[in-house]
Amino acid sequence: MSINIQIIFYSMYGHIFTMATAVAEGARQVKGADVSLFQVPELVPDEALEKSGAKALRDKFSHIPIAEPDQLADADAIIFGTPTRFGNMTAQMRNFLDQTGGLWMKGALVGKVGSVFTSTATQHGGQETTITSFHTTLLHQGMIIVGVPYSEPRLMNMEEITGGTPYGASTLASPDGSRQPSENELAIARFQGQHVAEIARKLKQG
Ligand SMILES: Cc1cc2nc3c(=O)[nH]c(=O)nc-3n(C[C@H](O)[C@H](O)[C@H](O)COP(=O)(O)O)c2cc1C
Repeated sequence: MSINIQIIFYSMYGHIFTMATAVAEGARQVKGADVSLFQVPELVPDEALEKSGAKALRDKFSHIPIAEPDQLADADAIIFGTPTRFGNMTAQMRNFLDQTGGLWMKGALVGKVGSVFTSTATQHGGQETTITSFHTTLLHQGMIIVGVPYSEPRLMNMEEITGGTPYGASTLASPDGSRQPSENELAIARFQGQHVAEIARKLKQG
């Protein structure tokens, strides 16, 4: 039995791409998991990306195909990754989701597993609000929300500054973007991928 797992992300400076790779690694641990990564279309003009330094960083994942809204109907589980923008998802991700009205009309995503991971610049910059406000859209689509249970002990790591929430994996990019996802954060992201895939497998098995 094959389980179609789509990881759909937006990343401006690469942190969410790195996290998406870890989520995919975790999901691939599950028997039958057919895992693929997609990015949503960019909305920011090239000149602005060039000026902020994002353009060069985005070359690292320019090979990742662009997601089409209709492809979500083929998934058994969809794991979304978005950086925060003022405590919410990015406009790029919102724009993509706002093109899933046709899927909503058909109930095409009802009963599929949905999960979210994120990145912020700062420790208290809105990880939980970004993930839980994203969940609202997934619930409107009839999806079954899966987070990261505390059976992942790294959520309780107090030895270092770290992302990782029961709502979904997360990383801290730092205000200048120089911090990269830590091993603790990447391990939680792998856990999320595996956990989602296991649940999707159980649901499909019936
Ligand atoms: C317009 C804008 C708003 C942002 N809002 C927040 C915020 O509310 N809290 C925060 O911690 N970081 C905020 N950030 C920082 C981004 O979340 C950070 O650049 C991102 O998590 C890095 O992920 P990426 O490398 O995948 O793009 C903001 C960045 C931009 C450009």
